Amino acid sequence: MIVSAAMSLDGYLDDTSSERLVLSNAADFDRVDAVRADVDAIAVGAGTVRADDPRLQVRSETRRAHRVAAGRPASPLRVVFSPSGELDPGARLFTGGDRVVVYTSEAGMRACPLAPEAAEVIATADRDVDLEAALADLARRGVRRLLVEGGGVVHTAFLSADLVDEMHLAVAPFLLGARGGARFVHPAVFPQSPERPLELAETRAIGDLALMRYRRAGVLSVYDLANPLRCPQHRHRRRMEPGCPRPRRPRTARRPKAPRHRPGRRREPTPSRSTR
Ligand SMILES: NC(=O)c1ccc[n+]([C@@H]2O[C@H](COP(=O)([O-])OP(=O)(O)OC[C@H]3O[C@@H](n4cnc5c(N)ncnc54)[C@H](OP(=O)(O)O)[C@@H]3O)[C@@H](O)[C@H]2O)c1
Repeated sequence: MIVSAAMSLDGYLDDTSSERLVLSNAADFDRVDAVRADVDAIAVGAGTVRADDPRLQVRSETRRAHRVAAGRPASPLRVVFSPSGELDPGARLFTGGDRVVVYTSEAGMRACPLAPEAAEVIATADRDVDLEAALADLARRGVRRLLVEGGGVVHTAFLSADLVDEMHLAVAPFLLGARGGARFVHPAVFPQSPERPLELAETRAIGDLALMRYRRAGVLSVYDLANPLRCPQHRHRRRMEPGCPRPRRPRTARRPKAPRHRPGRRREPTPSRSTR
């Protein structure tokens, strides 16, 4: 599962204006299009649908044709998370392309105004969206690679639930400060902590953007195209491919513990500075 976002240097996904703020550039949009073409499903939160009205499709005709030639739909399955179910049936997501899958709550299912031709609406819990249930349902549909493209609420939910294998962050060379709108993540307890940091898989300049690719520590990524890693099981393969086992990071040797002082035992006197 990949989280992909463009953000300002101070971690904002957008500003507070009603216009969509462009944080990316043409080359980076094309990079994201290539990632889209490589996944089985693209997901966003309802906030992103309301703010950006995205289509969530592969744009490049060549990439669409390659997918079709490989027996896949031209664009990945499109997915929305919306506990309230309050989505605009006129949004571009629901008026163009294949049917969208919407994960909602029982209450959201009753409130959702989407026609069955536009979306398959699935309740995963009473009041919330149960992300693990949603992922299990996607897996049953054959989704092996999921790309989550925002926004901050959904990033926070996936990251804090430790469901993210890889993060692609394009950082724009400016600060938004007081103009900042949605944040990349909100305060939460994250397992990707200083005690269990992510691994940096790649950094690259894309014009004046900095692309950073992080992955879950100890897990080799099928997206590590810049530095392909040999699969330990299929040694003939040049790089990790879907279906390859995910090797864990080798356990690092432990530092021997310092001997503990046992009460009752006489300690050697510490030599004074002059006798050292
Ligand atoms: N720069 C970028 O790369 C980028 C990418 C995407 C979006 N954005 C920006 O980000 C902003 C939108 O982000 P956002 O944080 O406000 O919204 P968001 O994450 O896209 O969606 C928030 C919605 O997700 C649903 N939700 C809440 N908790 C959830 C959970 N635990 N699991 C699943 N779904 C849950 C709720 O839907 P209901 O309200 O229906 O209950 C909530 O309103 C926009 O300004 C957009 O332009 C930027």
